Amino acid sequence: MHFHKYEKIWLIFGGASLVLFLAILGFGAFYLGTHPQSHGAIIDPENVEANEAFQKENLGLTKVDEDKYIVNVVASAFHYDLGNDDNGNAVSRIEIPKGSTVLFQVVTKDVVHGFNVAGTNVNMMVEPGYISSMEVQLNKTGEFTLLCNEYCGVGHHMMFATVEVVDDESSNETAAK
Ligand code: CUA
Repeated sequence: MHFHKYEKIWLIFGGASLVLFLAILGFGAFYLGTHPQSHGAIIDPENVEANEAFQKENLGLTKVDEDKYIVNVVASAFHYDLGNDDNGNAVSRIEIPKGSTVLFQVVTKDVVHGFNVAGTNVNMMVEPGYISSMEVQLNKTGEFTLLCNEYCGVGHHMMFATVEVVDDESSNETAAK
């Protein structure tokens, strides 16, 4: 079988690119440990309440230790359930003291949603059947918008909440405005 000179060059170029890209991918996945946010933890999307973390009273912000918080969220079209405040109103804003470590745990009851706290490193895909989790340290004060960045239907643009990183550590953690 005879290959034209240029065809050979392009075949080598294509093959070498493939090997290079696979090597980069392998390096990221196996050496750097880059993996999907779900960490493989699974959950029944039709019965997320079976997991204690996603029962209504455990949703939203919970202080677990000094400077340590957990935020449990149930996403569904087209809303992030962050629990209810003392008056029974849905929480749409959480306040986290600056410098604290926060573990976000998010599940979806229906379709794929996004979970992005714009301006921070928090950016996850939330897939039915998986618990997406990510631990971050929030060191920048300010108001950040939590939003859905995976198109999920007609109300996609209405899926948002507010995360405020505050200086004052004594602030009320369930403060809802
Ligand atoms: Cu949920 Cu877009």
